[in-house]
Amino acid sequence: MKDDNKISNHSDNRPFQEILEVNLQRRKILQGSVVAAVSTGFLGTLTTNEAFAKKWPKSLIGFAPVSLAEGGGLEPAISADYEYDVILPWGDPIEPGGPSFNIPVDAEMQTRQIGIGHDGMWYFPIRDNSKKRFGWDDNNERNPWKGRHLGYGPGNEEGVLCMNNEFGTNFQVLRKSVPESLEDVRVSQHAHGVSIVELKRKRNGKWRTVKGDLGRRIHVNTPVTFSGPAAGHPLLENPAGNVPLGTVNNCAMGYTPWGTYLTCEENFNGYFGTGNPPSGDPSFEPTPRQRRYGFDADGFDYYWHLFDKRFDLTDPDYVNEPNRFGWVVEIDPMDPNQVPVKRTALGRKKNEGATVHVADDGRIVVYNGDDESFDYVYKFVSAEDWRTMRSNGESPLDRGTLYVARFYDDGNGEWLPLTLDNPDLAAEFNDLGEMLIHTRIAADIVGATPMDRPEWVTIGADDQVYMALTNNSGRNNTGFRDINGRLVDSGPNGANPRTPNSDGHIIRWHETAGHSGTMFTWDIFLFAEDTHGTEQSFADPDGLWADPDGRLFIQTDGGQKDGLNNQMLVADTATGEIRRLFTGVPSCEITGIAITPDQKTMFINIQHPGNGDPSTSNFPAPSGSGAVPRDATVVITRKNGGIIGS
Ligand code: FEO
Ligand code: CA
Ligand code: CA
Ligand code: CA
Repeated sequence: MKDDNKISNHSDNRPFQEILEVNLQRRKILQGSVVAAVSTGFLGTLTTNEAFAKKWPKSLIGFAPVSLAEGGGLEPAISADYEYDVILPWGDPIEPGGPSFNIPVDAEMQTRQIGIGHDGMWYFPIRDNSKKRFGWDDNNERNPWKGRHLGYGPGNEEGVLCMNNEFGTNFQVLRKSVPESLEDVRVSQHAHGVSIVELKRKRNGKWRTVKGDLGRRIHVNTPVTFSGPAAGHPLLENPAGNVPLGTVNNCAMGYTPWGTYLTCEENFNGYFGTGNPPSGDPSFEPTPRQRRYGFDADGFDYYWHLFDKRFDLTDPDYVNEPNRFGWVVEIDPMDPNQVPVKRTALGRKKNEGATVHVADDGRIVVYNGDDESFDYVYKFVSAEDWRTMRSNGESPLDRGTLYVARFYDDGNGEWLPLTLDNPDLAAEFNDLGEMLIHTRIAADIVGATPMDRPEWVTIGADDQVYMALTNNSGRNNTGFRDINGRLVDSGPNGANPRTPNSDGHIIRWHETAGHSGTMFTWDIFLFAEDTHGTEQSFADPDGLWADPDGRLFIQTDGGQKDGLNNQMLVADTATGEIRRLFTGVPSCEITGIAITPDQKTMFINIQHPGNGDPSTSNFPAPSGSGAVPRDATVVITRKNGGIIGS
């Protein structure tokens, strides 16, 4: 992402006053064990479940890792046991025969080309062309990978890939800093959103797009609709009467057991603004509620508002347009005519992703983080068994309870419901819709734990929930007062103990009453800083995906140490062993993971190679070619045909 380094959480949440002493003790124990473990290449002493470890073979991660020496060059590097191919660069046609890449980009053509800022994605197998729909399990939804070993069949060789196109700066997309026309703005808007392609593995083993019914682009001007408690709310309507359009800053994602894709709107605030370059209208004052979401006069310098009043924060005709972004959006990959649905029950925040799990009682649970310094971890639990709800014609994502996490310093945790049964919330909000539109403020009120930038979350084979907390340079021991004079708690807490937290950590928790329950216990799987100076060196964990066998794939976004580019590593969650599978190119981020059901083809993304600067990177063109670098997808296979990560 383009980091929103401004801190929007000006609440004074400090759930633990007595944390420091306990915390220091905890840190000492963790640091001691991690340092000892890293020197031998294992982080094993952090494991809580030794019985689980014994279930798995010692060689869960058997590949030759990319060394420190190999992982910092101009080109990507991959394990000697693996190979890769590059597909779907920004600007390539969605299907064969479509418009090819050209600079300057044409706004209409961009709606038929792959967007920019490749991020979260998921692969939906096509098993049978006459019955394209396929959920994550035909038989038992509680086990997403049951029956996954399809062998060589259509599902492993043909599918629909849904990919988020998070962002491209004006420099990257327009090759200039400020749009000069509505056409420029449309180019930028059409480069954002979601790209959906039909992919097929050819006889030569290469994956290529195919012509079909399902490829499409969803972007900032695509019609969308709202569902759930906030749908139809006056705070989602504008005096202009404009229909809801678009999705933006689509970061990570999720997928449901009924076969749909969830795309998540993260730093949506950055596309709004008012006034002229270079810094917008200096007299603009966001409302306190706008400020909590980080709105200001110049946003992230897109300046769409110069030609598209929908994004002008002071235009009274579009006063509620900002409330239409910040949602989790459901897309049906198998129906190209489906209107994407913004699921308001999941709350409005900087949604990193939306990881869906089915609890033992059949209810849907959606975990996600709100990625900003000192923001929170959330989970949504559907009101009933998801099958019952769907058979009644209701989306399981429309009715349920949204919770926010409080991490106690003793290793316990609690999910705090955001409902109007809470008199403090009822005092602030008139109705549930208003509360969900201001989810962050509701979470402030109930006393959630401020975290070190929650990014991806995934459920491990050990049934623990793993979450990347990417970094938080603002975490310190002093606290400070914001522009409203409120005390911001920037001190450490048990779950976020490092001050500053420059390199991030991975936290995990066990839901002690099942995934739909409200209690958990947590520990820290690892601190990235503790890997520095070792062969496992990495920093700023962001993308996470746990496979069904006990591996945790870790992707990074931030300044790596020890001369490395951003990278993807594989950890064994039982032993703590970590190996580096792939490294990217200068000034890129590695993000996005999708995999075929047989786990033999993995797709990942190289985002913002060279930050768009051809003097830094020409990827995927050869280094030195002078080509403008383009975000692209990397297809990873094991040379011996084995499972990815093995
Ligand atoms: Fe879009 Fe939090 O990364
Ligand atoms: Ca990103
Ligand atoms: Ca991310
Ligand atoms: Ca990130």
